[in-house]
Amino acid sequence: MDIDQERLRSLKGLKWSKYGPEVIPAWVADMDFLPCSEVISAIQEMVDLGDFGYRYHDIDQLIPVWCDWIESSHGWRPPSDECQVFTSSMHALEAVMVLHSEPGDGVVLFSPIYMPFRTAIEQAGRRVVDVELQGPDWKFNPETFKAALDSTTRVVLFCQPHNPTGHVYTQEELTVFAEIVVEYDLVVISDEIWADLVFDGNRHLPLSPSHEGLLERTVTIGSASKAFNLAGARSCVAHIGSPATRSELQKYPDHYFGLPSSFGSAATVAAWTQGKPWLRRVKEQIEHNRNYVHSRIDEHSSGLTMHLPEATYLAWLDFSETNLSDNPSKQLLHKAKIALEPGDKFGKQCGSFARLNFATSIDIVETIIERILGTVNR
Ligand SMILES: Cc1ncc(COP(=O)(O)O)c(C=O)c1O
Repeated sequence: MDIDQERLRSLKGLKWSKYGPEVIPAWVADMDFLPCSEVISAIQEMVDLGDFGYRYHDIDQLIPVWCDWIESSHGWRPPSDECQVFTSSMHALEAVMVLHSEPGDGVVLFSPIYMPFRTAIEQAGRRVVDVELQGPDWKFNPETFKAALDSTTRVVLFCQPHNPTGHVYTQEELTVFAEIVVEYDLVVISDEIWADLVFDGNRHLPLSPSHEGLLERTVTIGSASKAFNLAGARSCVAHIGSPATRSELQKYPDHYFGLPSSFGSAATVAAWTQGKPWLRRVKEQIEHNRNYVHSRIDEHSSGLTMHLPEATYLAWLDFSETNLSDNPSKQLLHKAKIALEPGDKFGKQCGSFARLNFATSIDIVETIIERILGTVNR
């Protein structure tokens, strides 16, 4: 897919505006591709008409369109009368987590993990129950999970496919996970916003229907923000499988949780109804990039390693056997002018890691890899 570098440099989004012109940004999880043309047209139509008033046309469609999307893409139809819209994935996650726990209660996360999960727990005065995943494949370990639980643990924050490792959970892993969740009477908030970016014939299995004990204790979060590069749309749909949570949510007045905007909703509805061909092309490009990054790192023998992600556009790079083992992202920013996400943001055991976003043109990916490999050695 074509990328206009001049356009990228003039964007006001975080990714390209944070660092100076000499730095190539590969940090925050935005893609560099031009969004799907149908999404642009949907917004353009509103702009051309000046249709900026109370416009619920697309907001009202978010839930049915998401249910159709999940069914056609992942083989499960969430009951639409059990779904609710939120303004973002983190909004849904925090609202449900707070409704389901009291200050001091334990909330599980599996680290390394997308950093706002941890701050969400801490800022809400809940206790972080950090279940560390282990490389190189970052699979779920039932023994460590069980050992971390006690009678004050209420909620599990689950992320699948997993950011930052790109792990896609198998049915076997989900079954073992579900049995523990049921045994300890936990509620799971399953953030599945990376579900549409899965590679190699792997399948994303929605958590909620993967085990009968989970249907009524899982909240599934969906959004077009990652697969369609619409993080600014601020729009999200969640299936609230737990009846207790649904009735908690209903106790609040109409405007308490807010609504996505008509612009974000129009973009999201266009993506989920017309975006499949665009998404197919994007997936081909990022799978190609992923294979390139992996093979270049593999053949370089510099001590740098990377587990092949099964999903996402993120490479979780291990610099522990290299000259950059101490805060690699900081060193690479200074020495190679490449901006990566620091590993310790995702987990305290990951200070020698960094996260690389490869959702860009192959030319830019090549430059990034050249600069990294030119700086790293054993
Ligand atoms: C796993 C995960 N959840 C949530 C988010 C944030 O989503 P939103 O902007 O919809 O809150 C991200 C962003 O990268 C993410 O990777």
